[in-house]
Amino acid sequence: MFQADLLRGKKVLITGGGSGLGKSMGRGFLELGAELVICGRRQEVLEETVAEFHTDYLGRAAWHVCDIRDAEAVEAVVGAVWQDGPLDVLVNNAAGNFLAKSETLSPRALDAVVRIVLHGSANMTLACGRRWLEEGRPGTVLSIVTSYAWTGSPYVLPSAMAKAGVLAMTRSLATEWGGRGIRLNAIAPGPFPTEGAWQRLVPDPALEEAWRKKIPLGRFGEHAELANLAAYLIADGSAYVNGEVVTIDGGEWLKGAAQFALMEQLSDEDWAALRKR
Ligand code: COA
Repeated sequence: MFQADLLRGKKVLITGGGSGLGKSMGRGFLELGAELVICGRRQEVLEETVAEFHTDYLGRAAWHVCDIRDAEAVEAVVGAVWQDGPLDVLVNNAAGNFLAKSETLSPRALDAVVRIVLHGSANMTLACGRRWLEEGRPGTVLSIVTSYAWTGSPYVLPSAMAKAGVLAMTRSLATEWGGRGIRLNAIAPGPFPTEGAWQRLVPDPALEEAWRKKIPLGRFGEHAELANLAAYLIADGSAYVNGEVVTIDGGEWLKGAAQFALMEQLSDEDWAALRKR
């Protein structure tokens, strides 16, 4: 749906880019001419992904091992990325999540998710932002959040709290840094099947089916659809979009909120009887 060189000349760093949605966005950006850097905790996953991209002749891609929870490690990796030429775009994609009844969460369980999602995204954003500001360069940050960043959600409390924080960071810095050429936006994806998320968040096939029914479009998202939206938001053509969160969920969260959505259970006969009454 885009010109083949939409992202030519842009250097993009994706956290958690070795697998799942981060990998799919990376592939999409490479196909549009971007130069890609991915980071994550597992070297073999990063190596494999970059090798796959190179095998497919997708252009320049590099990797760095980085635990984004560690601000010093982030500083070192962002410095190394910059040495090779300044970055244009940061995508905060790395996340951690699991289902749990909130009253069972230990302090370490809360930390496990919040430190990746909230602290990790802030560490990366501040490390890149400082450099852009010092150099007077424009930059773009795109963060992957979720609709429960504003609705809240049971059973994923640490993730909901942390994603709400990432959204607050996006909006705060969009106004603080916007005048200096840095724009920040977010995407709130609904369910896009990935191995990592599915294994943690969709415990059995019956629940998967029930979830599908919650979505007005009647299906889960396709990775290329997310990559398209992300490409638009990091491209120069969206330069006036700043501090925004774009939902891509087939209408899932609205249906969850809509007061009369449950009336879809009524049959045509029920509707006829209702009208008569
Ligand atoms: N329910 C309750 N507590 C849980 C839990 C669960 N399902 N999974 C982990 N915890 C708790 C552990 O019990 C531990 O607390 P404790 O020491 O007080 O018992 C704490 O969380 C840390 O556990 P640990 O196994 O050391 O976690 P970790 O830091 O290695 O990683 C994740 C936990 C969630 C961050 C890990 O699964 C991860 O790295 N995920 C990345 C990818 C991902 O989650 N993708 C999905 C995105 S949707």
